[in-house]
Amino acid sequence: MKEIEDYIIESTYSFTSSDGLEINRRIGMIVHNLFTCRRGFAGNVVEIGAGLGNTTIHFLKTACSYNKKVIVIDPFEDFDAGVFGGYLYDEFLTTIESEVESKQECLILYREPSQEKGMKNKLIEHLPIAFAFVDGIQDTVENVLSDLVLMAELDTKVICVDDVNSNNPKRKKIVSSAVFEFIKNHPYNMVENINPKAHIREAYIIKE
Ligand SMILES: C[S@@+](CC[C@H](N)C(=O)[O-])C[C@H]1O[C@@H](n2cnc3c(N)ncnc32)[C@H](O)[C@@H]1O
Repeated sequence: MKEIEDYIIESTYSFTSSDGLEINRRIGMIVHNLFTCRRGFAGNVVEIGAGLGNTTIHFLKTACSYNKKVIVIDPFEDFDAGVFGGYLYDEFLTTIESEVESKQECLILYREPSQEKGMKNKLIEHLPIAFAFVDGIQDTVENVLSDLVLMAELDTKVICVDDVNSNNPKRKKIVSSAVFEFIKNHPYNMVENINPKAHIREAYIIKE
């Protein structure tokens, strides 16, 4: 059996573009490998910022078959569209409909921002958390950092952060600064040596 770091590196060699759909499938595959790797990370999956549900559907496929939960945190259009991007809850539901129909108990949804007071206590009910995909509000270093710290406080084993290597230079600077700041102060390591020939947008951070 392999370590999750090997799976992460290998999986980036099977994908060649930074196309969103490739990223969705890659992250879904990594979560699948998380449950089967040598260290066997048993636990639930958290997604901060689910948008149209294109990654959520992969999480549901895998996690539910291992009897794990997928916890989605996203205010969708309940909040200012200018700030939150205006992703529609109905569109999210349409994407995941086929998976959720038979596995409703697998999806836990909080239609609130991750920074909402009390979010940590809500998530404590779903420990242990094996994997978190941090893809919510990324407009300041503080916002990204607060999501990472929240997941670290819940002892999350693997954190995936989107846009660390974004095509948008401003976004890339904000998210990567947050990740480096986080690693300096928390017992997590970033998976290095990911396929240098492919444009891999996200980064994976693993608890030591
Ligand atoms: C780019 S989309 C997520 C895409 C999705 N993860 C995927 O892989 O397809 C960003 C989402 O973050 C949500 N969002 C923005 N601020 C948030 C916050 N503070 N907490 C949780 N979600 C947030 C937005 O509503 C939007 O749906």
